[in-house]
Amino acid sequence: MLSSLKKDGAIIVKDVVDEDFIKSLREETDPYMELSRTGQDKFSGQYTTRTGGLVSRSSKCRKLIQNKLVLDMCDGLLLEHCGRYQLHLTQIIRVKPKETKQLIHKDKWAWGNDLNHLEPQLNTIWALDEFTKLNGATRIAPGSSNWDDKREISEEEIVQAEMQSGSVLIYTGSVFHGAGSNKTTEDRVGLNITYTLGWLRQEENQYLSTPPDIAKNLDPGLLKLIGYSMANYSLGYYTPPGKPGELPEVVPPQYAVGLKESPSFSYVNYEKEDGED
Ligand SMILES: [Fe+2]
Repeated sequence: MLSSLKKDGAIIVKDVVDEDFIKSLREETDPYMELSRTGQDKFSGQYTTRTGGLVSRSSKCRKLIQNKLVLDMCDGLLLEHCGRYQLHLTQIIRVKPKETKQLIHKDKWAWGNDLNHLEPQLNTIWALDEFTKLNGATRIAPGSSNWDDKREISEEEIVQAEMQSGSVLIYTGSVFHGAGSNKTTEDRVGLNITYTLGWLRQEENQYLSTPPDIAKNLDPGLLKLIGYSMANYSLGYYTPPGKPGELPEVVPPQYAVGLKESPSFSYVNYEKEDGED
């Protein structure tokens, strides 16, 4: 699967979660989705709603973030360029009737056009409805990961990611793609969960969407993915606010959620010496 992902830029894995799982996830997230506003421009979609912050809002989404199959793919794709990858964004995307097709793009353009020399991102779209050609299944140009940013993409080069609910489309940050138009009278709902290199800025600010008071109750593995862990030797430390000498000076981010184990690097060491108060 990894070699197909690298070659084509996208794969579909069928029937990964069952209908009961999808139903529970929808029960958690539909109340937020129903009140989400449509986009304000053509790219975000004037008949499309986007609903984020799903680490805090949905236990089922938390499970999908840590799906082993997906994380194995992240290992294979992203660890070539970083010591640790991280969650990039979580977003329910609802394409409503009348939505027109989205501009074909590469997701890595979120950082501009400076990352053409490497693959910075792995993306998933979990089908929470059946994805069909008519309701806006994602349009992909297979094999386009290395195509020039300015290349014109013809309709003949595009296929649509038709799949049943519970299946997942996995695609790179470099492959040309875009949401399809919805020509039906029903919504088409997908869950976008994406991952990126640990040293890049996250698209969805996970520290603000899931602040320490909420994050402290989460699974330690998920905390690492969110970003409550160091990336590389020195990326991500902080200094807790306090009076002089009251709190340690330089600590890794997991200190904010009460995790005390020593990190595997020496740049920050917040354990106080014996005898120190
Ligand atoms: Fe995209």
